[in-house]
Amino acid sequence: MAKNLPSDSFRDLDEVTSLVKTHYGLTVTTRPLAGEVDLNFYLQTPAGEEYTLKISRSVAARATLEFQVAILEHLNKQPLPWSVPHMIPSLSGEHLLEVTSEEGNLHFIRLQSWVSGRLLDDINPRSPELLHQWGATCGLLNRALSDFDHTEAHRFYKWDPSQTLFSQQYLPLFATAAQQEIASYFWDRFEEITQPKLASLRTTVNYNDAHEQNLLVNDAGEHPAICGVIDFGDTLHTHLVNELAIACAYGAMGLPDPLTAACQLTKGFHDIQPLSEEEVEVLFDMIAARLLITVASAAHNQQAEPDNSYLQVSAQPAWDVLQKWRKIPPALAHYRLREACGWEPVPQREKFNEWLATSPSFAPVMTWAGKSTIPLDLSVGSLDLGNNENFLTIKPFAKTVDRMLAEAEADLGVGGYAEIRPFYTTDAYQVMGNSGAQWRTVHLGLDVWGNAETPVFAPLAGTVFSAADNAGERDYGPTIILEHKVSNSLTFYTLYGHLSRSSLANIKTGQTVVAGQQIATIGPAPENGNWPPHLHFQIILDLLGNEQDFPGVAYPDERATWLSNCPDPQLFYPDLPQWPQTTLTANEILPLRQQKLGRSLSISYQQPLHIVRGFGTYLYDTDARRYLDTVNNVAHVGHEHPTVVRAAQRQQAVLNTNTRYLHPNLVQFAQELAATMPEGLSVVHFVNSGSEANELALRMAKIWSQQQDMIAVEVGYHGNTGACIDISSYKFDGQGGQGAPPHTHIVPMPDTFRGRYRDPRTAGQLYANHIQEAIQQVQSKGRNIAGFIAESILSCGGQIVLPQGYLSAAYQMVRAAGGLCIADEVQVGFGRVGQHFWGFQLQGVVPDIVTLGKPIGNGHPLAAVVTTPAVAAAFANGMEFFNTFGGNPVSCAIGRAVLEVIKTENLQTNAEQVGTHLRQGLLALQQDFPIIGDVRGPGFFQGIELITDPETQAPAAHQASYLANRMRQRGILMSTDGPLHNVLKIKPPMCFSQENADFLLENMRVVLQENKMKV
Ligand SMILES: Cc1ncc(COP(=O)(O)O)c(C=O)c1O
Repeated sequence: MAKNLPSDSFRDLDEVTSLVKTHYGLTVTTRPLAGEVDLNFYLQTPAGEEYTLKISRSVAARATLEFQVAILEHLNKQPLPWSVPHMIPSLSGEHLLEVTSEEGNLHFIRLQSWVSGRLLDDINPRSPELLHQWGATCGLLNRALSDFDHTEAHRFYKWDPSQTLFSQQYLPLFATAAQQEIASYFWDRFEEITQPKLASLRTTVNYNDAHEQNLLVNDAGEHPAICGVIDFGDTLHTHLVNELAIACAYGAMGLPDPLTAACQLTKGFHDIQPLSEEEVEVLFDMIAARLLITVASAAHNQQAEPDNSYLQVSAQPAWDVLQKWRKIPPALAHYRLREACGWEPVPQREKFNEWLATSPSFAPVMTWAGKSTIPLDLSVGSLDLGNNENFLTIKPFAKTVDRMLAEAEADLGVGGYAEIRPFYTTDAYQVMGNSGAQWRTVHLGLDVWGNAETPVFAPLAGTVFSAADNAGERDYGPTIILEHKVSNSLTFYTLYGHLSRSSLANIKTGQTVVAGQQIATIGPAPENGNWPPHLHFQIILDLLGNEQDFPGVAYPDERATWLSNCPDPQLFYPDLPQWPQTTLTANEILPLRQQKLGRSLSISYQQPLHIVRGFGTYLYDTDARRYLDTVNNVAHVGHEHPTVVRAAQRQQAVLNTNTRYLHPNLVQFAQELAATMPEGLSVVHFVNSGSEANELALRMAKIWSQQQDMIAVEVGYHGNTGACIDISSYKFDGQGGQGAPPHTHIVPMPDTFRGRYRDPRTAGQLYANHIQEAIQQVQSKGRNIAGFIAESILSCGGQIVLPQGYLSAAYQMVRAAGGLCIADEVQVGFGRVGQHFWGFQLQGVVPDIVTLGKPIGNGHPLAAVVTTPAVAAAFANGMEFFNTFGGNPVSCAIGRAVLEVIKTENLQTNAEQVGTHLRQGLLALQQDFPIIGDVRGPGFFQGIELITDPETQAPAAHQASYLANRMRQRGILMSTDGPLHNVLKIKPPMCFSQENADFLLENMRVVLQENKMKV
């Protein structure tokens, strides 16, 4: 028996250490740990051994603690992939030691091994994989305890979700009427619906406390694994499903979409410890039941112990989940949780399928007999649907549908069930999910496109459930829902949307209709929700509490549930034409790439993207998920800019030939392009790629100078042809490269962040001096230089902005030696730098040759070399320059359109203004996140260099790649580059808006807070 101790205190750490010394013979240092049930202390011996000491509060009963000891002993015998504490006996050989306080109260002390790891609470992001693992851990715990029992486990405990009604007494303590409403709603549901079902559910001894403070996680980088479970003070015998419900309650906290989080946890649990359908049926309510205990306990404790902040920790996040939970139709939650278990999400679906298999007959919903009916492809990648401008507003969309029908000489167009559509992917429909922005893109009904006033018939008998006008842009407009009770066990609904307003005048709720009876007509725009005239016809098994309306589109991640609830209406009409889905899936494309394409082609991102549409600053994947593109400077004026697309289509339809015939496009484009250049640069040669442009520029320099030696910049990239690779240190000094060839002379990258000269006042001249050295070296061998080539901002080098005075000094030296100066504007040209139209103008120089590519054709293979009349004349030495495709009428039409759009849409000014805004935002992020070592670059050509240490500037390459991949997961495309792979490049289409910049910054802030980005 130890010396007497003050009751419930043990704030005096010396007393704790002497207790440990006396009873365990250990010399330790200690600090208190959080805990509600016990007083907990962390102990460490001088040798580094770690323990937890648990001192019971005075009220603890021996049997309860013996029970906890027994659980740990049981679990320590199981083969588990993570650790639980094991008991350390006292010097007297006891696991449970009794001490008496000065007041004569009994306390028990236990010493346990310390389980090391980070708290799961500290893991950011709470990824789907982590949630799955969390669920799986609970499944394993539950399985490991399935053959364990103890009389003490059979007790009343207020934290048991099955005992939630005990906490109902605290309802008046909830601060707001809204909170009381939520609590009453879930407690009422529990009492009326869930509690009666509990009696038939499995019970087990549950750990009962799998929250983020009790689960420990290892240090395994991006994919941390759960490595420990601690604190068995809540263990008790209750319903098995509660083990999962508690984890879901905590796992859902702090996330925008708690239900999806609960589904991921459920999948993890079910994969290990299969749940029954009845258990999943109560899960949604049991999660609420536990959350209510949390908030009730916090409210109660706030009165009793206002100073104990630990007790309040979970209250607000629990309320946040409860508020969201309240808005979810419980049946929908049930179906989604079933989906997570791999079952048919909507149980009635099986009954529906059985009924359908009896071949009931259906009247046509519209008269298509004798009419020409075609499948209408409105999917995200549909080439029939075409450019986004074809559907962004009603008029062009109506025209598009008319055109599709007219081209096929059809009266009606049908289709759309489960089709992924791009219509709802604008900002207005954006909703934040747990993995960034998401949109409802999966269409749940069948559309029949035809004329307004076309009659609509009931396909089968039923009663009118509702008839209402869902007015509003892009809503259903006038809508009828019929109820069909086809058997005692099967009732379902059919919805008819986009009707005429007059349809509602002739129909009453409760009215019966017979199969084939006309119920409505198709409505015209705008009364039909402002769509081209069509019927939206949807089957719905469960209206999920809706009365006049029902979602017609679903989030792709939830499609299995929604499609289970909304069967394909074409099942009623197998004779209708089906749209053949011919597109290859990502899983089909990937192996084909491997088999049929060269292995040296790379793919961006850990999870490859399957992009099928682009518009403006956005790209869209096969789920019509919209990605903000900060990478593609090639789509200079915006992806698939209508002006450029139209110019291409119109010219392509009329003529495309080579330059040996006269055509105005060629000369007009040359004239317009030359007009953007400083005086003197007036002669244009058209080619098809940046590589070809540089290849030609090299030939010009060599012919001009009658020399072969070129000076180029370290980590420069100029193209993929033989001669271009020979001057691209990025390639020949990189993987697979064989170093500089004899006629190439590389000068240091003029980097003022981590290069050899960093003072911006002198760096330009100092770096240029290396060019002089290179010239002298060449001359010392009896040769001379042909020229010097440099990108106006080094792109592959990591968005390196040239120091002031660099190019003017360099050009002077090169020209003095008789060489030509080539500015590679393939990346940065056409207004991207904001202040100027060309990047070299930032340096106040005029090159002898400028090479253009990428942005010039907005994605069309087009490039150009612009030079002086003198250089052009020297090049025209008798050998004809012929290029089959360069300068063809289509390419030139496109190039002209690009120049026109840059001008008419003030894109250079936009680059300057939004670029400045973005830069300010990035600099603000740099203040908050030390991993950002440097922010650089003008306009829309910016770079963010990540480092792990400001002193050593050690490159944070893994973090840069992590950030790009996480941003991709959150719907933003970024790329990394630089010799150390630690620079994020931002070079978006020039229509990138301030809102785009803010969205990018917001999301970067989210990811920069994640564990991986901490330095
Ligand atoms: C600066 C620079 N020059 C030239 C090229 C080659 O252009 P292309 O890929 O069109 O041949 C590139 C391509 O990335 C480049 O970045």
